[in-house]
Amino acid sequence: KRPVGAPDASLARPVTKVGIVGAGLMASQLALLFARRLLVPVVLTDIDDERVAKGLAWVRAEVDKLQAKGRLSADQANRVKSLVTGSTDKSIYAGCDLVLEAVFEEMKVKQQVFAELETIVSDECVLATNTSSLSVTTMASKLAHPERVVGLHFFNPVSVMPLVEVVRAERTDDATLATAFAVAKTLKKNAILVKDAPAFVVNRVLTRFMGEVMRCVDEGTPVEVADKAVLPLGLPMPPFVLLQLVGPAVALHVAETLHEAFPDRFYVSPNLQRLVAANKPGLWSWNEQGQPFLDDETKAL
Ligand code: 3HC
Repeated sequence: KRPVGAPDASLARPVTKVGIVGAGLMASQLALLFARRLLVPVVLTDIDDERVAKGLAWVRAEVDKLQAKGRLSADQANRVKSLVTGSTDKSIYAGCDLVLEAVFEEMKVKQQVFAELETIVSDECVLATNTSSLSVTTMASKLAHPERVVGLHFFNPVSVMPLVEVVRAERTDDATLATAFAVAKTLKKNAILVKDAPAFVVNRVLTRFMGEVMRCVDEGTPVEVADKAVLPLGLPMPPFVLLQLVGPAVALHVAETLHEAFPDRFYVSPNLQRLVAANKPGLWSWNEQGQPFLDDETKAL
């Protein structure tokens, strides 16, 4: 069945080589997913050799785990490993039919990445963004071919979360959108078409919810009490565990973007700001007065 709002699948263009921009945790997860499901070469880049090597090592280690679990045979594991390669040189994106960026959540950085990609790939190559909350229309606005830009927003952990938000920007054309839906189907993801609005749908709802939980904690509810209190509402994991999974910096960025767009409705937690400013991975703790603070374990990291 065609997803609501998706164009005719026959408009989709073939995807025979994929590029991922970035080699961080999200980018590496995406590289593995695309290689495993599409079975096409996947190339990734980052700003230095160390980051590229780390990303590739993560992919290989995950493939080994899948093989150990019996999800991949030895042959399949070797094939997936050989499909994922990396470099610091963006010219490896030449010949890609789709490049998905998963770099730092900064509009200027993402615009620059897309502008550079336009000088390397063909005019028909789909340029996709995994942004959590930024405007895809603005991201595409300075390009020669904004019609090939689309949002493909995945969720953590990428391998198990079934949903992907496909974001149609103002000038995204039907062939680009159809290609995005076809790719999502091959990735075995449940794709939904969403509007290019701040934080789209999932993060908008999740951030409102997380904002209220964080406000309770900022007002003095201990973290563990807040985590226990809201879990029976049907959440798969406690909210502060989810915050760790998503990453405090990403969560803060989404909250700030939404606060800017809808100041009355979105809360930016000063404790979350403090945690991110301290550049810690995000272990929350609480003192005897029930106030959250950065604990010794976090400080030692
Ligand atoms: N990373 C990678 N894989 C993980 C994982 C993690 N942190 N945690 C669990 N998994 C995998 C397990 O390995 C297992 O895979 P397998 O079936 O291949 O062995 C699978 O998930 C199920 O694991 P479990 O049965 O042990 O655990 P659960 O049933 O508790 O499910 C979960 C784990 C799927 C992570 C579940 O807790 C969940 O859905 N949590 C909520 C996650 C969520 O809301 N994500 C969205 C965040 S918002 C976002 O990402 C958007 C961004 O823009 C901010």
